[in-house]
Amino acid sequence: RSHFWFLSQQKFARDLQGQSTMRERKATDPLHSSTDLTEGKEKLRLKQEVGLISGVSLIAGTMIGSGIFMSPEWVLHHMGNPASSLLIWAACGLLAMFGALSYAELGTIIKESGGDYIYILRIFGSFPAFLFAYTSVILVRPASLAAVCLSFAEYATAPFYPGCSSPQVAVKCTAAACILILTIINCLNVRLATSVMNIFTAAKLLALLVIVVGGLVLLAKGQTQSFQNGFQGTTAGIGAVGMAFYQGLWSYDGWNNLNYVTEELKKPEVTLPRALMIAIPLVTCLYLLVNVSYLAAMTPSELLSSGAVAVTWGDKALGSWAWLISLSVALSTFGSSNGTFFSGGRVCYIAAREGHMPDILSMAHVRRLTPSPALLFTSAMSLIMIISGSFTSIVNFFSFMAWLFYGMSISGLLYLKIKKPELPRSYKVPIIIPIIVLMAAVYLVLAPIIDQPQIEILYIVLFIFSGIIFYFPLVRFKYHPRFLQRVTLHLQLLLEVAPTTRDAN
Ligand code: ARG
Repeated sequence: RSHFWFLSQQKFARDLQGQSTMRERKATDPLHSSTDLTEGKEKLRLKQEVGLISGVSLIAGTMIGSGIFMSPEWVLHHMGNPASSLLIWAACGLLAMFGALSYAELGTIIKESGGDYIYILRIFGSFPAFLFAYTSVILVRPASLAAVCLSFAEYATAPFYPGCSSPQVAVKCTAAACILILTIINCLNVRLATSVMNIFTAAKLLALLVIVVGGLVLLAKGQTQSFQNGFQGTTAGIGAVGMAFYQGLWSYDGWNNLNYVTEELKKPEVTLPRALMIAIPLVTCLYLLVNVSYLAAMTPSELLSSGAVAVTWGDKALGSWAWLISLSVALSTFGSSNGTFFSGGRVCYIAAREGHMPDILSMAHVRRLTPSPALLFTSAMSLIMIISGSFTSIVNFFSFMAWLFYGMSISGLLYLKIKKPELPRSYKVPIIIPIIVLMAAVYLVLAPIIDQPQIEILYIVLFIFSGIIFYFPLVRFKYHPRFLQRVTLHLQLLLEVAPTTRDAN
């Protein structure tokens, strides 16, 4: 009887798949959406029409998140002096720009969505790409989501604990609640998730502008003490500069976001380079001015002890309007975590499409057309990170892993430039730029290890290579144990999800 039940469930699952493959194929697979002319055409056309403005807002919207409201005190802490920490912020902007220009060339050679994953796959092959996907889906993406949510929580709880920093339990519970709300929004409806993103992007630009203008007013009133000592008291050694970069670069992270949706860009060869040439300098200028504004409102030691620097800024500069700042920062970080959540699912989906992740993660809900298994998985991993980590620790390890893989994609670009110059590309970056980025990546990965080796780094490296245990049996030799297929089937029925491209191809 149980065998019969199993068969009938299998048939039910297949029926579900039949009903839904067409719809999902269009909803989640940009490649198909461009050619499919049946129902749902308009929505799909929209998806392919990411033009310059949306491209710019996609990049800036991801980049501006928690970092600018959390990291200034850490950059200052590592550098020991306002002038040198401003220098770090500018250098991070330049590095992000160089990195993005290099990725623009990659994006015009390999015109597929999926960012780093697809570049590593096409240039270096299946094994390194698997290690990237494995690390990114289990560790990097959930970690970045956890960090942004923790900063959301820090600011959302700040007004309830005036004059001191919020208790960790309150912060962690709020962050967990934030993840759960995001999971619900993103599982319910794709459009809901994108409109949340747009509204919140406006909030964050407003917050930054208020801080910039307020800072200019303070400077005009003569509050320039923080800048009077020049570079005096700079304490940083090689490792500390690396750590300061980790914090600064976190704020700029997201500069390669448009490369994840190349297939949906209008004229990618023009839009991609142009959008980032606008977005990244814009964000860099805003970040520098915001930092200047923080330093105009408070002394370096006040900044160091603040915990939530924008709130302290609000108390000093806005008086009774200070709540406005906590509110807009909370909105901004919430929006950014929504974006991170949204794009996190994409890597998972594309990797599963290439057979690098369990099948279940490439499936979408039959009616809502959201990649709910991937989203649920990401949120579960993020919850674990929230329980065990803090903003600062997550950000430091995030940057280590992120730059390890950025370095890999960039060396792929150098390989293509030297060995395959004949490949058509509409945008060419001068070769010195990827060389500088590669050198920076090597520095960023090695300096903190050499200067102050931390045992966690060893764990991360061991984790990355533990992927080998899964790669050979499950991906290379395609061993699919029967019980795993059953688990997939049961999960499919439970979550009402079905495969997207696989069966349709
Ligand atoms: N730069 C963002 C911030 O300051 C972090 C973005 C993380 N998300 C991502 N997709 N890389 O909060």
